[in-house]
Amino acid sequence: MNSNPLKIFSGTSNQGLAVEIANYLGTNLSPVEIKRFKDAEISVKLNDNVRSSDVFIIQSTCNPANDNIMELLLMIDAALRASASRITAVIPYFGYARQDRKVEPRVPISAKVVSNIIQRTGADRVLTMDLHADQIQGFFDIPVDNLYASPIAIDYLKSLDLEDVVVVSPDAGGVDRARFLAKKLDTGLAIIDKRRPEANISAVMHVIGDVKDKNCILIDDIVDTGGSISKAAIALKEKGAKEVYCLFSHAVLSDNARDNLVKADFKEIIFTNSIPLKEDKSLDNMKVLSIAPLFGEAIRRIHNGESVSSLFI
Ligand code: R5P
Repeated sequence: MNSNPLKIFSGTSNQGLAVEIANYLGTNLSPVEIKRFKDAEISVKLNDNVRSSDVFIIQSTCNPANDNIMELLLMIDAALRASASRITAVIPYFGYARQDRKVEPRVPISAKVVSNIIQRTGADRVLTMDLHADQIQGFFDIPVDNLYASPIAIDYLKSLDLEDVVVVSPDAGGVDRARFLAKKLDTGLAIIDKRRPEANISAVMHVIGDVKDKNCILIDDIVDTGGSISKAAIALKEKGAKEVYCLFSHAVLSDNARDNLVKADFKEIIFTNSIPLKEDKSLDNMKVLSIAPLFGEAIRRIHNGESVSSLFI
């Protein structure tokens, strides 16, 4: 049992989720003032005593990623200088994660840069979900709990009671994720093999596995422009799929994502609220699953020094 008081603050990126997490924990968010100076610099003030407190700061580093990261850093610094006993950065969507290695000469490893600044500013631990690459945990030298949205998604998919289901990975890189879901749902697995015959020629999609007359569940971690997942859905339909569902953790949904998702004619588009859904991106066939109970429970256990491993199923 932790005798230090639990204090939860939220940045501006995903206040709806932060309120839900606080509700799960039977508490309120601690007040914080986040303003902009005239020149757009960010000003932060924690309006609650945090001396000797166990502080959790909730902030998804989604668009506008740079501002949201800066808010998070300033809140961590404010808590540190106000003598918090421990500071946990709660980052439901960890931005910059796709830049996790050098893919060509003279490029940064941006996920490492972001990890460095969060740690060096004063976070004692990080709580996040479905990191684009698991190895980002090792970019930190503090504990990182990387939760998975899959238990919530699995419960929902089971409730749909679908027959003749096959889980599909939209690319070779996502096979592990798709295989895990297929195992949990006790279904078959298919893979889309994307090949670009020549530069600037659109990729040819080969479907490996039997999808004819099946209900396909395409799974990815992030949908950004929606290009990858929508092209995959169209390829599945061409191969005779009955209905195509898509499931992803982080709804980045930039640019013309909405149009791409409409074109793909998904039966249902299922994702979490790690990033708030903007009204102009919303569609009738979208189903948003709340991760508040998952994060609330993880925070409760971290605060009380209990194991969180049963949440990693
Ligand atoms: C890439 O490695 C990710 O897992 C997603 O497949 C990618 O970010 C999706 O991007 P978009 O929606 O723009 O095709």
